[in-house]
Amino acid sequence: MYVCLCEAITDKQIRNVARKYHVTSLKGLRQILPVGRECGKCIRQTREILQEELRHLEEQCIEHVA
Ligand code: FES
Repeated sequence: MYVCLCEAITDKQIRNVARKYHVTSLKGLRQILPVGRECGKCIRQTREILQEELRHLEEQCIEHVA
């Protein structure tokens, strides 16, 4: 699903970058993907996706430790 229509960036691309490069902030993500550089309407949803990925990473860490 497209999150950023201006730059044609999908949620899958955002998740892939977050997982591959351990990106947890919008600033970090924007160093790799040009998300939100035009109208900015996608920023809220992008932050939500990053939060989901962070929770996913935390769950993996907890499972790994347990
Ligand atoms: S939808 Fe992402 S900058 Fe416009």
